[in-house]
Amino acid sequence: MNKSTFRASSDVALIKYWGKRDPILRLPENGSISMILQGLETTTTVEFQTDISQDIVTIQGSSNPIETARVIQHLERIRKRFRIAAYARIQSTNNFPKGTGLSSSGSGFAALTYAIMDALCIDISEKDLSILARLASGTACRCVCGGFVEWKGGSSSDTSYSETIFPADYWDLRDVVVIVNEGMKNVSSTQGHKSARTSPFFPIRQKHINAKLEAVKRCLKNRDFSCLGEIVEAEALEFHSVLLTSQPPLIAWHPGTIEIMQYVQELRQQNIEAYFTINTGFNIHVLTLPLYEKEVRERLINLPSTKKIIMAKVGEKPWKAQHLF
Ligand code: DP6
Repeated sequence: MNKSTFRASSDVALIKYWGKRDPILRLPENGSISMILQGLETTTTVEFQTDISQDIVTIQGSSNPIETARVIQHLERIRKRFRIAAYARIQSTNNFPKGTGLSSSGSGFAALTYAIMDALCIDISEKDLSILARLASGTACRCVCGGFVEWKGGSSSDTSYSETIFPADYWDLRDVVVIVNEGMKNVSSTQGHKSARTSPFFPIRQKHINAKLEAVKRCLKNRDFSCLGEIVEAEALEFHSVLLTSQPPLIAWHPGTIEIMQYVQELRQQNIEAYFTINTGFNIHVLTLPLYEKEVRERLINLPSTKKIIMAKVGEKPWKAQHLF
């Protein structure tokens, strides 16, 4: 058995995955579409060792029991499926804050799944990697792919996986990621998914979600940024209206989040094309075109609520990287 290291990019959901039809298999209530983000990455080294009697997991230099348990659960799943007996030493690091709504579980479990399978010298298809990664984290099933990615909801485990619908070099979009707080969010997405159906707005969302997915695909196909941005921003607000009206309500935004949202809308009035989207955290993705990227960054960095900015563009699928140990 080998040691293997993979680096995977996080993503930004253009149409969100929210709610699970089957929480064990992580079958989503709806399909979703995302853009993989070069610039927000997790690197993970996995080595199966014969001289250890348990898995040893280090994430960002420490061993948080909840995160470690989730990683070991994924290892167990793979060991059982492929009849592996050995324990593993795992080290993982992110170049962006984790647990803040920037999909670190997506890049994390995508890198982990690739590295485990490679360390075990088991060659499986991208589709099967996506299915396997999905069992650990929904977002991860998209992050095993590159470019613009669609996760078709699917009706069973075998049919619920992601595929690249347009490659990374198809359209040069930029994401100016605004960090308003680096602290961890209070409620994880995994927790939040459970209350999706309690919102009275959830059935309304579900009614038109397939039409929205088709509309986003059309905007991507036509490389129509205004069309895409309008839908993505409205989708983010609709998604948050579900969060706000769930039981218990999930208020993800910080005051700074709202300041940035309103500022992005002001930018458009000044003919600077940019649109925001937000997951369950408080940090914000601001999508724009290369033409406006510098201006958007300079304007946003000077706002009182901005702590930090990370620049991202459309990324590739996970790739082999230098070992962490
Ligand atoms: C709001 O993938 O983090 O970011 O499957 O429990 O790991 P688990 O949930 P997760 O949910 C992400 C939700 C979202 C929307 C999205 O990225 O599509």
